[in-house]
Amino acid sequence: MSNEPINVGILGFGVVGGGLYKVLTDNAESITQRVGRPVNIRKIADIDWDRPRDIEVPVELRTTDANEVINDDAIRIVVETIGGVKSALGFVMAAIEAGKSVVTSNKEMIAKHGGDILDAAAAKSVDVQFEGAVGGVIPIIRTLKESLDADQIDEIMGIVNGTTNYILTQMSREKVEFDKALKEAQDLGYAEADPTDDIEGIDAANKLAILSAIAFGHRMDVDRIYREGISQILPEDIAYAERMGYVVKLLAIARRHDDDEFEVRVHPVLLAETHPLAAVVGPFNAIFVRGQACDEVMLYGRGAGALPTGVAVGGDVVDCARNLAHGATGRVPCACVGQAEIVPMGEVKSRVYVRMRVKDQPGVLGAIATIFGSHPGRYRRQDRRHHLDHARV
Ligand code: HSE
Repeated sequence: MSNEPINVGILGFGVVGGGLYKVLTDNAESITQRVGRPVNIRKIADIDWDRPRDIEVPVELRTTDANEVINDDAIRIVVETIGGVKSALGFVMAAIEAGKSVVTSNKEMIAKHGGDILDAAAAKSVDVQFEGAVGGVIPIIRTLKESLDADQIDEIMGIVNGTTNYILTQMSREKVEFDKALKEAQDLGYAEADPTDDIEGIDAANKLAILSAIAFGHRMDVDRIYREGISQILPEDIAYAERMGYVVKLLAIARRHDDDEFEVRVHPVLLAETHPLAAVVGPFNAIFVRGQACDEVMLYGRGAGALPTGVAVGGDVVDCARNLAHGATGRVPCACVGQAEIVPMGEVKSRVYVRMRVKDQPGVLGAIATIFGSHPGRYRRQDRRHHLDHARV
């Protein structure tokens, strides 16, 4: 086998790009040993090299033009860590068209355009890998795509957003206010460029679309995933939950109803303190999978941050390099068959916690009970409510 280096180009040099650079350069020797050939960073494109960064990159590696990476024939693997869909999608499609393997941590792009990207990759027989897109360092994509491939998965439930888990933990354990906790999460590099994506559950819904599509083998329309964020949660909700023996967590839940119908939702949940996911605090994520043969599998790790996400992306780069070295690209293609039918939230059964501010006078509770009694199985969307999920974990 040749010992020519396998060249890598990186598009976007923010938190994840920086983490990837550090991992690939710090561990260059062991990676060479594992792949059998050096994995060399040849070029990095970013539109702003003046932005303050913790990591210094040699000037000769820098460019401001992504096309210099995509059109460089010596580059075999293009890593996209720009984020968002606008420019990233075009660059990724161009890299695939140029016959390069692609690694990305871009959950929004994969959630919304994964089908087209993977179809294009299959046509060119190149790899597209995206382990860093879900759960930071947690190897959930490879686990679902390869390790559990022989099973039939029926349920996925997880904490898949580090920022909101960090905020909820800070509010509950340190009594920090929402805005301050969010600012801390931003300073620590956990939050999205627009943190609305985190706190309104958009990021978690993108990740759930990816996980459920892989697990169930049907493409998921992210816009049809039921979604509530944590922006409406007040410190008193957390205090009441604690008094009742619960913690508040933003969960992503996907369940098989039958072979073509799936329940897919993201919202705050009251989890019993004894539930394994209740112990997942700060920026950590955990993903629980239930399969017909495997029964229960749970993976845990840092869900956000430069190095944890950088090492997940780095693992994909190593895998792509190995496949290139052995002429085995395109080995694990998309296995989705058609589009999933999503069960409307109104048809999903779940217990619900409702907190109401009422006048302290006789008859109020009776009146409330009458209203609930006359609307069996229904609740209004604007009520402050949290789903109760004792789960079967
Ligand atoms: N903003 C994301 C999070 C980053 O907090 O989980 C990792 O995907």
